[in-house]
Amino acid sequence: MKATTLTALGLAASGASARWHEADGATIRYSTVSGYFLQDEPTTNPSGFDYAAWNFGLLNRTYPTDGWGHHQPSSGSVASTQWQRFARWVDYLNSNCRNDGRTRYKVLVMGRHGQGWHNVAETYYGTPAWNCYWAELDGNGTATWADPLLTPQGAAEASRANAYFASRLRDHGMPAFDSYYSSPLKRCIQTADGTFSSLHLPAGKPFRPTIKELFREGISIHTCDRRSTRREIRAFAPASFRFEEGFTEEDELWQGAQSKGETEAHEQARSKTVLDDVFAHDDGTWLSVTSHSGEIRSLLAVLGHREFGLGTGQIIPVLVRAEAVRGGGGSPPPGTTTAPGFTFEATCTAPPVTSIAGQGCVCSTTGGVPALASATPTPSLRQM
Ligand SMILES: *[C@@H]1O[C@H](CO)[C@@H](O)[C@H](O)[C@H]1NC(C)=O
Ligand SMILES: *[C@@H]1O[C@H](CO)[C@@H](O)[C@H](O)[C@H]1NC(C)=O
Repeated sequence: MKATTLTALGLAASGASARWHEADGATIRYSTVSGYFLQDEPTTNPSGFDYAAWNFGLLNRTYPTDGWGHHQPSSGSVASTQWQRFARWVDYLNSNCRNDGRTRYKVLVMGRHGQGWHNVAETYYGTPAWNCYWAELDGNGTATWADPLLTPQGAAEASRANAYFASRLRDHGMPAFDSYYSSPLKRCIQTADGTFSSLHLPAGKPFRPTIKELFREGISIHTCDRRSTRREIRAFAPASFRFEEGFTEEDELWQGAQSKGETEAHEQARSKTVLDDVFAHDDGTWLSVTSHSGEIRSLLAVLGHREFGLGTGQIIPVLVRAEAVRGGGGSPPPGTTTAPGFTFEATCTAPPVTSIAGQGCVCSTTGGVPALASATPTPSLRQM
């Protein structure tokens, strides 16, 4: 009953919307609580890691709250699953008897979109030529990679995630998410919809994703990082998707037309901004975020998680501890004042001859003599 009421009251945010008062005027400090997921362990190799081979990485272990059953489990009844016992432990960590409200724990499950047409094009042209020339175009006449859609493989990756979540919810007692968030880029909207919309979810926890501007990919000069207008996204996204409050009609962040891309420091600062927004306004515990390789890398850095690169369609869960810190105790958010937000990214006006790591694109010139576009390298980030 209570959950239904809260959902009805939910503004632009998600279902479980309630302000975290202790965080008002405080700095929120994040950490990853390790010991719960394989991905946190230094011995786990991220390369080729597949969530579907490992129950999302949930470690098989005991928790201090095991056996505390809310419903007096009679001996001989089916034992609680790993997910149910983990969920009970996280509930306990959040309960009033254990903390004074200044600390919140959430299980953040971050999924990278399935393969998009820009991913195919980067492979087709090779990363140097992609960064120096092709990625700045909307497409090549055959393929379109400005705010690209999923390829058939990308759609299949979302279907695979759908089947895996269905099995976890049905057979393994994994809790349904309290809220869902998505990047505004179309490949994420498609991925989130393909992954979650057909799941059998509890009545109080529907799939009602919120599109949040700052969960978008690193804002490079590539057209795959320029979002469509709000009106276009509204027409594209299923009706279950909602915009966060204040979502603008135009993309006011992309500066590719001026050859300027977001710095890593800027991306981390705005990743913290969006996490602060979510943690301060969403009192749900189980949160789903559909985003991008670069942006999830940035979120993981802000959360103090080890680096863990994700292939297309891959998913990573993190147990996050957030602490509201007052006074001088809070460390300043990363890269806010001194670091430049956007910097020039060199490109060529025609397909480049090559690009040199640390130096930049080697453009072909009309005179036939190759010239270095600039001492400022185009980041060899694999923008996805
Ligand atoms: C935990 O045990 C189950 C069942 O044996 C197994 O499928 C799963 O992969 C294990 N999880 C980890 C992280 O080792
Ligand atoms: C455009 O790029 C795609 C790869 O994304 C490639 O398969 C196709 O052949 C290219 N088209 C042209 C006209 O070069």
